[in-house]
Amino acid sequence: MKIAFVGKGGSGKTTLSSLFIRHLAADRAPLIAVDADINQHLGAALGLDEVDTATLPAMGARLPLIKDYLRGANPRIASAETMIKTTPPGNGSRLLRITEDNPVYEACARTVALDDDASVRLMVTGPFTDSDLGVACYHSKVGAVELCLNHLVDGPGEYVVVDMTAGSDSFASGMFTRFDMTFLVAEPTRKGVSVYRQYKEYARDFGVALKVVGNKVQGQDDLDFLRAEVGEDLLTTVGHSDWVRAMEKGRPPRFELLEEVNRQALRVLRETADASYERRDWQRYTRQMVHFHLKNAESWGNAKTGADLAAQVDPAFVLDEALLATAQPV
Ligand SMILES: Nc1ncnc2c1ncn2[C@@H]1O[C@H](COP(=O)(O)OP(=O)(O)OP(=O)(O)O)[C@@H](O)[C@H]1O
Ligand SMILES: [Mg+2]
Repeated sequence: MKIAFVGKGGSGKTTLSSLFIRHLAADRAPLIAVDADINQHLGAALGLDEVDTATLPAMGARLPLIKDYLRGANPRIASAETMIKTTPPGNGSRLLRITEDNPVYEACARTVALDDDASVRLMVTGPFTDSDLGVACYHSKVGAVELCLNHLVDGPGEYVVVDMTAGSDSFASGMFTRFDMTFLVAEPTRKGVSVYRQYKEYARDFGVALKVVGNKVQGQDDLDFLRAEVGEDLLTTVGHSDWVRAMEKGRPPRFELLEEVNRQALRVLRETADASYERRDWQRYTRQMVHFHLKNAESWGNAKTGADLAAQVDPAFVLDEALLATAQPV
């Protein structure tokens, strides 16, 4: 199950992603965590110190390796240089699985140790720094995540949790359509809710499953506000957490000490993510990646690569769990 946490800056995307990741990891669920936000904080929220965080390999800096691996022996993709973030897999491409070892994980993922020998593989896009201005764009970094998601075959009970940004940036590409479930984190404020409206609007045409998770919700008035503003899309709420506050101070208590109400909210998130599996449609998933590829090809990709990128689409190919069983050319 591919799960995104989106929302306004400061709403609690990273906090709730990290709690959800700890929740899944504590249960030993097969899991990959991805930090795709401009502000890279997921590592820290999972307990990494500054040195560890600074030495995490950036996916954005390893795009050539990622492209070369995923391209595999796909005859429609002539070179890594002509592969753009939306280039879809086809016959001959290599796919990613959640639990396997592969060169992409080897280069880009690091294992973060959690409580009780639980752990999670973490991948990060890399920070967006001043030196990137005018040179690289945020899209090119997040593009690495989009490529991986488009080449990932995950089954029920396996999870990819992505800490995303909710800005209009994620709508320029197809990234926002890559998830089985999108949790929009909203504080009970007008701004928090306005991001929800914008997201909902973009999501509607693409059948994106979107649920709101209220955060920093204190009391009935906050709850009433969110209910009135987002209606049935309100899934659950998280209150102020002393556990989170202690973690922010660099003194994370054991995860099992997280407040019971917040633990209950995490169970609801997992049940909701699991339930979305029934609505998964690989045909649509593949169709949408082709849609965004053709759009990107036309608007900038063809010009940038000097190739006709529409020819990269393998019309007969559908990403599917049946492919989980197929042997990979390594
Ligand atoms: N439920 C909570 N209880 C206590 N503190 C919280 C809670 N949720 C978030 N916070 C605190 O609020 C601040 C912002 O949260 P967080 O970093 O998760 O937001 P974000 O949406 O990821 O922000 P950004 O857009 O900057 O990435 C952090 O200091 C975090 O510890
Ligand atoms: Mg964040």
